[in-house]
Amino acid sequence: MKAVQYERCGPAAEVFRVVDIAKPAPGPGEVQVRMTLSGINPTDWKSRSGATPRPIDGFQIPHHDGTGVIDAVGEGVDEGRIGQRVWIWMAAASRPWGTAAQWTVVPSRHAVPLPDGVSDELGASLGVPAMTAHRCLVADGPVAGKNVLVAGGAGAVGHFAIELAKFFGARVATTVSGPEKAELARKAGADLVVNYRERGAADQLRAFAPTMDRIIEVALGANLELDLAVSGPPTHIVDYAAEPNDPVLPVRRCMNANLTLRFVLLYGIPAEAADEAVTDISAALAAGALTELPVTRFSIDQVVAAHEAVEAGTAGKVVIEIP
Ligand SMILES: NC(=O)c1ccc[n+]([C@@H]2O[C@H](COP(=O)([O-])OP(=O)(O)OC[C@H]3O[C@@H](n4cnc5c(N)ncnc54)[C@H](OP(=O)(O)O)[C@@H]3O)[C@@H](O)[C@H]2O)c1
Repeated sequence: MKAVQYERCGPAAEVFRVVDIAKPAPGPGEVQVRMTLSGINPTDWKSRSGATPRPIDGFQIPHHDGTGVIDAVGEGVDEGRIGQRVWIWMAAASRPWGTAAQWTVVPSRHAVPLPDGVSDELGASLGVPAMTAHRCLVADGPVAGKNVLVAGGAGAVGHFAIELAKFFGARVATTVSGPEKAELARKAGADLVVNYRERGAADQLRAFAPTMDRIIEVALGANLELDLAVSGPPTHIVDYAAEPNDPVLPVRRCMNANLTLRFVLLYGIPAEAADEAVTDISAALAAGALTELPVTRFSIDQVVAAHEAVEAGTAGKVVIEIP
């Protein structure tokens, strides 16, 4: 099969090779998936570059997310799954078989049926972003009827945080850096969209909700002042991203707000939490509550350019079309 792989960390142009290798066979409990699209996330380039390295067992095919069709199953998996169109999550976590290849093998529960009518592009966008958004939203209990602030609502995680929060029945405010991202966040269904770079952002958020119940945070240090402006005893800030420099916490002000601070890293969430995310994302998909971000496409031979686009912060989703 045709696959992208790397054997050591480094810049995309230096370490990526497009190779022909034997396709993997599904082991017990696994499914083999013929890939259509491979979705790229920041974690994929951070693993490949060595910014946040993960162990490489001989070689690594990159990317956790993707869409494809199951074409073989391993021992113990229902043969009725063959032919199912699926979205894939965490294909490359402690496994060499990422989605940037014509075939991957994943544990059966990592290949989730994609409802008819849901695009391959949306399927390839769900894994890391939607599951992270889900965990951030529900780790501290249901959000129905709660006030949720999603920082960076036009980002991949932010987008699904807005859509899942609305699906769960929350009131959602979000922050963005400019008009194009504001439009994306409004389309996702945010009740209030605020430009965090403009004066008066805190006042707009306070008018929406004097204290937020949840703040889903992408830039804790940069946004701490804004977050504290809408924090009180019910507030849980859930941070899922690290900035280049760690923030200094103003402990007294955090105490005054009786603030709860939680961190989420998808690689380490409990298996039940991942299964709950899959169930809820599937329900949201079936209800038409999840939508695509703008998609930028590359061929498998353009994988270097695709990674450079994600590294450069291309808005929306970057995918690789699998031949
Ligand atoms: N913990 C986990 O398991 C996990 C899972 C997924 C992603 N992540 C991490 O989360 C980060 C985002 O991932 P992603 O896939 O959502 O990336 P993305 O699609 O590039 O989105 C990031 C968004 O954050 C916005 N942003 C940057 N600074 C901001 C600020 N101060 N306030 C509000 N918004 C701000 C950016 O827009 P503007 O710059 O225009 O504001 C952009 O829309 C990455 O660092 C990624 O590695 C972690």
